Amino acid sequence: MAHARGLLDAGERLDAQALRALQLERLRASLRHAYEHVPFYRESFDKAGVRPEDCRTLADLARFPFTVKADLREHYPYGMFAAPRERIRRIHASSGTTGRPTVVGYTDNDLSMWADMVARSIRAAGGRPGDTVHVAYGYGLFTGGLGAHYGAERLGCTVIPASGGMTARQVQLIQDLRPGVIMVTPSYMLTLLDEFERQGVDPRTTSLRVGIFGAEPWTEEMRREIEERLAIDAVDIYGLSEVVGPGVAQECVETKDGLHVWEDHFYPEIVDPVTGEVLPDGEEGELVFTSLTKEAMPVIRYRTRDLTRLLPGTARVFRRIEKITGRSDDMVILRGVNLFPTQIEEIVLRTPGVAPHFQLRLTREGRLDALTVRAEARPGATPEQRETAALAIAAAVKDGIGVSVGVEIVEPESLERSVGKIRRIVDLRPR
Ligand code: DLL
Repeated sequence: MAHARGLLDAGERLDAQALRALQLERLRASLRHAYEHVPFYRESFDKAGVRPEDCRTLADLARFPFTVKADLREHYPYGMFAAPRERIRRIHASSGTTGRPTVVGYTDNDLSMWADMVARSIRAAGGRPGDTVHVAYGYGLFTGGLGAHYGAERLGCTVIPASGGMTARQVQLIQDLRPGVIMVTPSYMLTLLDEFERQGVDPRTTSLRVGIFGAEPWTEEMRREIEERLAIDAVDIYGLSEVVGPGVAQECVETKDGLHVWEDHFYPEIVDPVTGEVLPDGEEGELVFTSLTKEAMPVIRYRTRDLTRLLPGTARVFRRIEKITGRSDDMVILRGVNLFPTQIEEIVLRTPGVAPHFQLRLTREGRLDALTVRAEARPGATPEQRETAALAIAAAVKDGIGVSVGVEIVEPESLERSVGKIRRIVDLRPR
């Protein structure tokens, strides 16, 4: 599906040179805004001996200090805000695993920019004004539901604000209201697919033609699984609350080759996760973002912990990120070998006889950590098929990743189902 140029918005129509010029102008303004209105940034810039005016080229950004999640927690709830409370129109928060949530805020302009970026994302995914969009990302403090919602409205779509949960009802809504687009986490999509089948409905016969999946890592194997079972185009959407929410980067349906970063608003860098050194495009490392236009809560060099690399633009002028391998926090180090849940996902989804539902259990045996992959048998799989699948998974992990793991093939429907972001790792090691 070739995009008529007329469908693109003004930002998407910039040429590379104009884009870089716009980024520099916005970057300088954003650094100034943060420095002048957030004591945290003033102190951290001063300590590093840099002033906003020292940023004369995009590469000069590397001279500025990083911001990490702990900085946001430390200045909970409003300490990172750069606009007076009366101008803050909305709050979102991400819970995290321990302690204080991370609170983020938006002015009217921020909400409008965010809606524009999600509208751009839905259009890049193949959605069009007039489409009906079923939003099954959670509504509430999580940015997924409301972020998708206002973006779909901005594009001129009809929104079904289903939120997460009540799975049987979601299936009915999809059948009766006939949406063309669904926005949901890939793991909850699998839960919905099982529910379609449970109700005796062939998911390939629904009105859906596009699925916009994100908020958690997923693989090409998962894309194939969902596209086949649902007969849709499945594309990837990325974002994080600290930067804005969903709609920071989006895969274009015509190429499905990684996610274009909406670089006219969010400036990406890839850094070495250990040294913090900026890496050239093409090299894998940690993704870092600087907001270029945000008012309420600008972020300067925010370390996402997400691992990927930057690639040149294809369907758009903007650079792409490769599908996220995982977060450095989700990396398991097993006898010196680094392992991500997405690597196990690739293997499980390629293995006949097992369903696309799996969990990783970390335990300690003596002084060594051990990992067990628990994958669900497909309904009707024979004991022999289960045994073969277990051996195949163990062998593929050993050959492909280089470490021995245990494999348990469990009963169909026995693993916990996702209603939002799935938790792949169950850590049972003693603290
Ligand atoms: O998950 C925002 C979002 C909602 C994105 C809906 C896409 C769709 P947070 O809860 O702050 O925000 O979590 C952000 O989720 O740093 C990544 O680790 C992960 N993540 C988000 N999108 C993707 C993706 C939302 N497409 C964190 N692929 C991020 C892999 C993703 N990981």
